[in-house]
This record gives sequence, C-alpha cells and structure tokens, in this order.
Amino acid sequence: MVVSAASVAADPRQRARELDRDDPLSFTRGEFVIPSKSQIASTHLPDPVSPAVVTGDDPNDSSKCIYLCGNSLGLQPKRTRTRIEQFLATWATQGVQGHFKPLKGSPLPTWVNADERAAELVAPIVGASKSEVAVMQTLTTNIHLLMSAFYRPDVNGKFKIILESKAFPSDHFAVETQLRHHGLDPATSMVTISSKTSSDNVLTTEEILSVIEEHASTTALLLLPGIQYYTGQLFDIPTITAFAHKHGIFVIWDLAHAVGNVPLSLHDWDVDAAVWCSYKYLNSGPGCIGGLFVHSRNSTVTRLITDEKPEEGYVNRLAGWWGNDKATRFIMANKFHPVSGAAGFQISNPSVLDITSLCASLEVFHAAGGVAKLREKSILLTGFLEELLDSMSEEDKALFRIITPRDPKQRGAQLSLMLKPGLLETVMRELEARGIVVDERKPDVIRVAPAPLYNTFEDCVDFVEGLAAALAVSRK
Ligand SMILES: Cc1ncc(COP(=O)(O)O)c(C=O)c1O
Repeated sequence: MVVSAASVAADPRQRARELDRDDPLSFTRGEFVIPSKSQIASTHLPDPVSPAVVTGDDPNDSSKCIYLCGNSLGLQPKRTRTRIEQFLATWATQGVQGHFKPLKGSPLPTWVNADERAAELVAPIVGASKSEVAVMQTLTTNIHLLMSAFYRPDVNGKFKIILESKAFPSDHFAVETQLRHHGLDPATSMVTISSKTSSDNVLTTEEILSVIEEHASTTALLLLPGIQYYTGQLFDIPTITAFAHKHGIFVIWDLAHAVGNVPLSLHDWDVDAAVWCSYKYLNSGPGCIGGLFVHSRNSTVTRLITDEKPEEGYVNRLAGWWGNDKATRFIMANKFHPVSGAAGFQISNPSVLDITSLCASLEVFHAAGGVAKLREKSILLTGFLEELLDSMSEEDKALFRIITPRDPKQRGAQLSLMLKPGLLETVMRELEARGIVVDERKPDVIRVAPAPLYNTFEDCVDFVEGLAAALAVSRK
C-alpha cells in the first residue's frame, strides 16, 4: 500500500476504496459494533438485545456513522457482549464459587486469576513481561499509587517534580496534591516545561532535556505523556528516560493516548514506571480498569515474610490485600508481604466485570497480530487523512491548521486541528449533523483519530468532505 498525494488529489474516494480493498487488516472492522448515523443521532435508549445494537446492523439505516474518536472512547467490540454474558452466567450460576472454580467450556479465567490473565494479554501491548504489568484501578489513581512508592522528596535533597505546562489536568492535579501531601509548595517544587518555539506547545526533545538538566540536582521525578492528549505529539520515550536516569530522576509515563496506539517497549526502553487507561484505543468501555507498569528492577522483594523486618525487602507503597503474595494472601496474617512485580502494587480485588470487558477487546488486538501490525496501517491511515486535509481548497485551509507534528514518527493516530477562533461550535454541530463523531477541546481544537482497528480510508474522505461542508456553513 502506497499513499501518495497525487492519487489523493485525483479521486480521493476511489483511492480510499482501493486502499480499503487492499488493507490486510480490514477484517478487524467486523469485530466492532459501528453505530449507524441514525443511532448516533438518536436520543432514545434502544432495545438492548435488538440486532441493531448487538451487531450494529441497523435495518432502518445502513449508513454507518464516521467514528473518529477512538482517542477518547473506543467503539464496542462484538466480543465484549459475549464475554460479559459468559461472566454474568458464571456469576449467576456459581456465586462465590466463581472465584476459584474453573468451568469446563469457559474461555474465562477464574476470578482469582482474572488479573493475571489480563496482565498476560496487556504485556505485549506495552512491551513488558507479564510480571511487570498490573491491570488495576484507573489511570490517575495509579499515578498516585506509583508516586506513593517512588516519589520520595525526603531522600537526597531532591524534591521537585517536572511535567509539561499543558499536561492533562488530572496529571497536573496529581502532581500538585502529591507535593502538598508532602508539605511542599507547588510554586517552588513543581517545574513545568513550555515550548519556547511553538505556540501550540509542541515540545522538542531538546527543550525537554534542557529543563531536566537545569533542575537535575533538585528533581526527584518526571511525569510526561507518551502522546500528548491535545496536540497528539508522540514523545521520544527512550531518549528522555535515559537522560533523566543519567540525572538520577525517576520517570513515570502517562500512556493514556499511547497504549494500543503506538508500539511500546517499556522494558527495553528501561522505563521506570508507567500508567494507562483502557477505554481509548484499547476499547474496554467508559471508565474501565486501567493499568500500570513497574520495571522489574523497581519491584523486587528480597525478604521472606518470616524474616525479621520483611518490610525492608521491598519499596514501601500504599498497600492493600491484593498486592500481597497470593501464597500468603488468604492467611490473613496482617503482615503485608507484596508479591514481587507490578502485581505487588495492587490494592483491591479488581472488578472482574471490567477485566472481562478489557480482555474481550484485547482478544481483538491479538487477532489483528498486535500493535506493530496496527501501527503500519495507522501510519497510512493518518497520513492519508493528512494528505486529504492538505489538498482541501485554500479557502478552507485558511480556517484551520494541523497542530500535530507532521512527522509520522512524532505522532500516533490522532491529528489535532486548530480552527480559527469562533468556528468550533458551528463546525462541531455541522459534523454531528452529518453523522461524523470527533471530539473538541475548547476553545478551538478538534481531535480526529482514525483507529486502525475499525476505521477505513473512506472514513477519512467522509470526514474531510464533512469538514469542507461545515467550514462552508461557518463562512456564511
Ligand atoms: C493524558 C490523560 N491523562 C489522564 C487522564 C485521566 O484518566 P482517568 O480518568 O482514567 O484517571 C486522561 C483521560 O482522558 C488522559 O487523557
């Protein structure tokens, strides 16, 4: 598959159809419930078991909506319903026995092992060993939990936390409140990175490294996103991590927009720790369970529970019973002894409903051949969208600009379009009226993310035609 601007300009729809026809991953779209245009416009709860809801085949409307919002909430995989029904059947017929009793013919693990099964499936997606990941809690909670273990402002006189100036608010709040929790003032202990050259705060690696260097002697921790939620910029995770390590700084990566979107090699990149949510490109459902990575070197447990002072054999953390070694978990001895690995950072028994939903979606990733395969398509898909946008009329292009880096290596699936001030409301309304779903970040940005698991090249053509029509209305 080669995507060229010339062929886009000649007949974009024809070209898109050829690309879709030749797409080796086109089958994965069939794994998802793609709402019709009338469904997405409806204000009524449909019959939950109607074929139109179960399979997405709407007898009243065969035209599918153009869903380009996987950066915010992924669509529902068809398997999710099946697996959740199997989970419900287990609970309905087994009650508490579901924790330990395997059922013949069930594709689901016993509940006591559900987190391990999820870790096994998510590990290749983040490039880690199974023991380095835990499927648990939610993203922001996991930032706090990691900081409870690894942010130690009392050690070595290093106390500052560095983050980007336009960080996702939750990350910003987590840092501010952690600092206050330790009796520190964010005004003097929080360092934010701003671009000196980009008004959109697209940061160069050099800008990031220079801030790290400037504050190296007083900085304990760096928190950065793998992909920036607003601009869609993909950061150079290995280079930044290595540089921070040189200066004795612990690095946590927020992978909300990177997980399932771009290939990650957290272990090989020597990342200290990372967090993610699973409802965006991982398609697990709104607010579903998150995850964290802790490099094996940061999670060893060197003492036995029977040793004197076993707590000196591991990094202290805010703990709960689910982080305890399974072998001693049910002894209920009131002596915390974490299992080594990321699982030792778990707190509560996880929502098996959530894990079932997540694992259903991860099965689809497996069927697709993994993130690296998806990334090949994603680069083409987003590149095609970019070319279509670039070949719009000069009149249209005067009304927006792409703020996401143009280099495919510095972005994932998402392109962020900065509209001229005052256009956002009209453009969003007009797109919605055409069955096109993207998301907005006020005051002026729309984020458009073709997800390779379920979007087509033709979706990109539909979007750009819709955008042209929306811009025409906004000009009136
Ligand atoms: C970059 C980033 N960080 C943090 C969050 C917060 O995630 P949660 O609400 O799951 O804690 C989000 C949510 O969209 C996000 O995009």
